[in-house]
Amino acid sequence: MSSNALYTDLSTYYDLMCCDINYPAQSNTVHRLQQLLGNGGKNHLDLACGSAPHIRHFIDYGYQCSGLDINQPMLDLAKARCPQAHFMLQNMCSFTLDKPVDLITCFLYSIHYNQSIATLAQCITSAHAALTPGGMLCFNAVDKVTICNNSRVRHSTMLHDSHFQFESGWHYSGDGEQQSLKLQIIKTSAGQRQLWQDEHAMVAISFAQLQALLLPYFDVHILAHNYDSIAPWDQKAGNALFACIKRAD
Ligand SMILES: C[S@@+](CC[C@H](N)C(=O)[O-])C[C@H]1O[C@@H](n2cnc3c(N)ncnc32)[C@H](O)[C@@H]1O
Repeated sequence: MSSNALYTDLSTYYDLMCCDINYPAQSNTVHRLQQLLGNGGKNHLDLACGSAPHIRHFIDYGYQCSGLDINQPMLDLAKARCPQAHFMLQNMCSFTLDKPVDLITCFLYSIHYNQSIATLAQCITSAHAALTPGGMLCFNAVDKVTICNNSRVRHSTMLHDSHFQFESGWHYSGDGEQQSLKLQIIKTSAGQRQLWQDEHAMVAISFAQLQALLLPYFDVHILAHNYDSIAPWDQKAGNALFACIKRAD
């Protein structure tokens, strides 16, 4: 399987793989943060939007939404789900917009799809340039120093007469600025078993390094990775939600 088959050849399985993610709660938390900390504006861009599960909810909250992704099959799914949104094929590490937006989101750890700390820094400057004053960049991230290589998230589901088992987990060697996301899909249909394994190279970074990249441009709020309530990060958990407010120039 090619290194991003999940987002190209296997893109029709993407929503099945994500069926246990609480997109309504994530979107609601970001919407509340935009009202509490951001400038409250309703022009929105989702980076690495995939099939647009967050955009669906932001449209319902009254936002004018756009989505950016590097894989056209994911954008095709996004357009089918949200025909009223605008979608663009771009690399988030150096994107440009015709008009600034008030809110930029990037979820499911997709900010790590920047391949190095240098490209992540470019992505952050692109986001800063694309935001209106007081606008918010909001994303979730994982701290490389907390990654447990043996830990996997698994779930299974049925589609038509096929049984699907999905598995994903991080791997970090403990050295350098790349970690990988390991993915596995097993489809069992009429006694036939098909297995796909995928490994995605992503940037590895500590929260201290990430904060250092953001602080020249943004007031940074690091929050607990919990979408039931808004609370500060406890300085220990390996996952967190970053709410970054563009400072007035
Ligand atoms: C894990 S999915 C997340 C999709 C969506 N944000 C969600 O929460 O379900 C990652 C997405 O990032 C996209 N992607 C990967 N590298 C990218 C890049 N450099 N620029 C833009 N999109 C990228 C993939 O095509 C895929 O749709």
